[in-house]
Amino acid sequence: MSVDTISIKTQSVDNVSLPNKPLRVAVLVSGSGSNLQVLIDAMQAGTLPIEIVGVISNREDAYAVTRANAAAIPVAILSHVASGKRMGIKTFEQHANDQLQAWQPDLIVLAGFMRVLSGSFINSSPAPMINLHPSLLPAYKGLDTHQRAIQAGERHHGCSIHIVTAELDAGAVLTQAVLEVNQKDTADGLQKRVQKLEHQLLPWTVLLLAKGVLSLEQDQLGTQQKTCMPLLPLKLYVDS
Ligand code: GRF
Repeated sequence: MSVDTISIKTQSVDNVSLPNKPLRVAVLVSGSGSNLQVLIDAMQAGTLPIEIVGVISNREDAYAVTRANAAAIPVAILSHVASGKRMGIKTFEQHANDQLQAWQPDLIVLAGFMRVLSGSFINSSPAPMINLHPSLLPAYKGLDTHQRAIQAGERHHGCSIHIVTAELDAGAVLTQAVLEVNQKDTADGLQKRVQKLEHQLLPWTVLLLAKGVLSLEQDQLGTQQKTCMPLLPLKLYVDS
């Protein structure tokens, strides 16, 4: 572990006063939506100054859709497969862009969203986009991250939140949560342990963005890296 990493306790940001205007957040999902649920819970509890303005799912059977409906959040289902036909990525992106333009989010969160988006979609997005990835980037971009980390004999593993850019899983890493890999860890077991970290890292990161502690402006990112704290990525260490 490098010596210049910063460990921050979640309690340290709890005392910060909340802004008047909540951050408008859109969430893109494909699966169970446990990370979406964490954001919904924090929003409803008043501990995260956000308004989830809409959820886009590329799967109509995603449990994330049920979670969004239960919270009365607008949902757009842009199904991967419609009437037995796969929706091409261009069509998906056209509809998704229209929907996002209508919702006018300040921030777009990819939380378990499993389609690869094009550079033109990302660059014409109405708001900055962040992605939750289950590895300590830049290690293990792409899929099967837990299995690959075990096979490589990694001592540490975890999850990252990074800015979405045209290159897959390659944008600036904002925050990471780290755990120690146990000798007896299986890929499934590690996935569950990492997902628990994700449930802390995501609201914590969104809070830092909502409070302006972290900025997604490229020039400010550069400044954060060069001069002032916090040095990115911020790392959250969790006893496990
Ligand atoms: C997360 O584990 C994330 O790392 C991966 O997809 C999973 C989504 O889980 N990209 P959920 O849908 O939030 O439960």
